[in-house]
Amino acid sequence: MPQANKKMKDIEVPGTRQFANRVEEFPDAVDLTLGQPDFETPQPIKDAAIEAINTKSMKYSHNTGLFELRETISQYYREVHGAEYDPDGEVLVTVGGSEGIDGILRAILDPGDEVLIPAPTYLGYEPIIELCGAVTKFVDMTPTGHIATPELIESNITEKTKAVLLNYPTNPTGVTYTKPQMDALVEVFRKHDIFVITDEIYAENTLEGEHISLASYTDIKEQVLVVSGLSKSHAMTGWRIGYVVGHRTIMEDVTAVHLYNTICAALPSQYAAIEALKNHRHVPKEMNEAYIERRDYIYRRLLDMGLEVSKPTGAFYIFPSIRKYDTDSFRFATNLLESTQLAVVPGRSFSEYGEGHIRLSFACSMAELKEAADRLERYINTLEEK
Ligand SMILES: Cc1ncc(COP(=O)(O)O)c(C=O)c1O
Repeated sequence: MPQANKKMKDIEVPGTRQFANRVEEFPDAVDLTLGQPDFETPQPIKDAAIEAINTKSMKYSHNTGLFELRETISQYYREVHGAEYDPDGEVLVTVGGSEGIDGILRAILDPGDEVLIPAPTYLGYEPIIELCGAVTKFVDMTPTGHIATPELIESNITEKTKAVLLNYPTNPTGVTYTKPQMDALVEVFRKHDIFVITDEIYAENTLEGEHISLASYTDIKEQVLVVSGLSKSHAMTGWRIGYVVGHRTIMEDVTAVHLYNTICAALPSQYAAIEALKNHRHVPKEMNEAYIERRDYIYRRLLDMGLEVSKPTGAFYIFPSIRKYDTDSFRFATNLLESTQLAVVPGRSFSEYGEGHIRLSFACSMAELKEAADRLERYINTLEEK
């Protein structure tokens, strides 16, 4: 039988999926595994797509996306982050943030290149880096409260480093960065001839303070590639619309990967995205009010259970330590699921530096969150502290 690419041996089904798939075996399960808003896409956004299907051409769009959508994204960056991205050559509409990440990595990486990633981190980067023949170098952020510090980043940069890949607000820790923290990191980036890929898909889900986009550091524009999209901000995970903005020189290469990969993003979804970004910018703020209430609730409950946990300032995840009960997060999550029918994601899914933690998503109803907290508490009460 013909064999797949040898690197495929090392590519596993992500821990989030492994657990989400098992949830079906448990009829009474409470599922806190998946990373998508529990809200539905607002009706006017759906209507815009339906209207477009009925009245507009549904042929391919320009490879980089409909001009009106690129212009809207460009305007958003100008107004919100003071950054200029020319809709003609510096904005690329992709099939979710995922395709943007894939396109960037394949456009910039040569075999042997290293990508530094503060960890624990989202599990969607490493497999693509490995498929490019490049090397993922996770940098342990546990000693600094899951915040990338200039010292930790700089001490890991070598002549092989091609890029640093940041994600903030961060999946799975819920951490985000203040302006002084970002300023300090940018000082390091300025000194090195490397790319900075910044996955800001949760930018609109900043629960405290303001999101400081790397796009706003306009003097390092040639190094920075920003990935974002509407999946989380507008509860549009199934529409598959994301985007990349960056300097036109490198965007030409990212666009080349994209056009061979997908030609263009789906047209009805592009029209829906125009409606979302033009007329529904307030939507994420409304969702954030609900996330904040749930975050405060689950944070308090976890503290009351005696778990070590920090308060998330962005995204919709909380990442308590379970180390005092079990150092193996897969074992802990499996036992939790089998004994109480509560599904969470083992921290090790987010690199070895996530070990000893579990990720709970609070993108669910308050009733589910309460039931989940009760089940976790009951389970913990049956365990002996180590
Ligand atoms: C950090 C991060 N980046 C990217 C994605 C993928 O986003 P999209 O659905 O837009 O492809 C996710 C999804 O969970 C994520 O958590």
